[in-house]
Amino acid sequence: MTPPPAQRDLSPAAAVRLLGAWRAGGPAYAALADALRQSVLAGSLAPHTRLPSEREFAAALGVSRATTTAAYRRLREAGFAVSRTGSGTVAVLPRPATPAASEPGGDAPAPGAETLPDDGVDLSQATPPAPPELHGAFARALEALPAYLGRGGYEPFGVPALRAAIADRYTERGAATSPEQILVTTGAQHAIALLAGSLLRPREAVVVQDPTYVHAIEALRRGGARLVGVPCPADAALDVELFASTLRRSRPRLAYLIPDFHNPTGLTLTAAERQAVRAAAERYGVTVLGDETLSELALDAPDGAPASDADVPPSLAGDGTSPYVVTVGSASKAFWGGLRIGWVRAHPDVVARLARERGSLDIASPLLDQLAVVELLAQRAEVLSGRRASLRAQRDVLVDGLRAALPWDVPRPAGGLSVWPSLRAPLGQAFAAAAAAEGVLVNAGPTFSALASGADRVRLTFTRPTADLERALPRLVRAWERVSG
Ligand SMILES: Cc1ncc(COP(=O)(O)O)c(C=O)c1O
Repeated sequence: MTPPPAQRDLSPAAAVRLLGAWRAGGPAYAALADALRQSVLAGSLAPHTRLPSEREFAAALGVSRATTTAAYRRLREAGFAVSRTGSGTVAVLPRPATPAASEPGGDAPAPGAETLPDDGVDLSQATPPAPPELHGAFARALEALPAYLGRGGYEPFGVPALRAAIADRYTERGAATSPEQILVTTGAQHAIALLAGSLLRPREAVVVQDPTYVHAIEALRRGGARLVGVPCPADAALDVELFASTLRRSRPRLAYLIPDFHNPTGLTLTAAERQAVRAAAERYGVTVLGDETLSELALDAPDGAPASDADVPPSLAGDGTSPYVVTVGSASKAFWGGLRIGWVRAHPDVVARLARERGSLDIASPLLDQLAVVELLAQRAEVLSGRRASLRAQRDVLVDGLRAALPWDVPRPAGGLSVWPSLRAPLGQAFAAAAAAEGVLVNAGPTFSALASGADRVRLTFTRPTADLERALPRLVRAWERVSG
């Protein structure tokens, strides 16, 4: 196959950083090929990237040229690279033999989900299954549908009943909101991409937490952003002093933050930190885009008991008056990703502008799904109490199992969908590859970084049932023995 034109080059030093500790026992060429393959699958090595030459890569890694030559050959045979004399070796995604039948990622890319064996466990997707109430919500939505059938079905701002219900929920959380401040979107991902396209000019700086949500990194980059990462401390969702000084130095157009049960770390901004973020935004005239997709997924009360609605953090919008805070939210994690319903909360002028601009993208969101979300929001307390109970049990099986079996540092997140352990060694990439070989998919830390950091981290989601997690644990232990032994 002729190599596709390379869109970027990976320097030998960057390749070494990306892979971290890649040796996983067995022949070096096989471990190197596996680590490169896993990087492509995890999204940290973009397809159409030209890899370093065999000679330079060998020198940078401190291995023989025969090792890199054999690793590239193995990568080509697996369909993850193509080479031609003079053009070098370019990373690619293999062409599926049949049209892809796998579930598209609801979060991080589905790394090789189509190659997962029947008894495999996918801990790479932050996508809970639908709650039992979903079917009834659609049945009632169908009953409400006739009232809308006499019109064209396009509601670029969203169905009024849904805008009102979303506004009410913000008001309940302390941020007084009117329906005119709500734009219903086709998922939070669409909301982020729409805002990025609307607000950013090419090469403008956007400040992000490092790590952060992988598809936000992609959407912001696609909107032209030059990303400036603010490294998160181990025990806080944001270093607010560093955040403020970064705003002062970089004068970005936008800052993208996940304030609650952050993806991937699970950490949440304190009330004082939220206040400091709003103050910095106002001081430096920067719009802060708060992604509240995970906000409803509080799992613990402060005393460690199961969370109730009272433990859902207040909105990053505070009392709702700051013109510098725009938030996005979603029905995907509280209810179900298959709904494809999200929203933006912003000034009514911004909402009107976005409603116009979405004309070139999707025009409007699906109407029946919006009506189903109206129903689910009306039953929110009941749906969420079931959801929180199962996520809490799954989180505890995963965290307790990892803590008991592995020498890692495994924080127990107070909410959200993922665990972000420190492996205490830069083995994230190698571990993810070894876990995939054991039939368990996890994401290596650098997947979530605009700075290629997080070599010592992996993200494991707890959206699968406890029986699946229990089946995954011994395999994760075997994978760790392979890479650390
Ligand atoms: C932080 C965050 N924002 C946005 C999304 C995407 O949400 P949606 O399904 O509403 O597009 C996700 C999904 O994983 C997420 O974790």
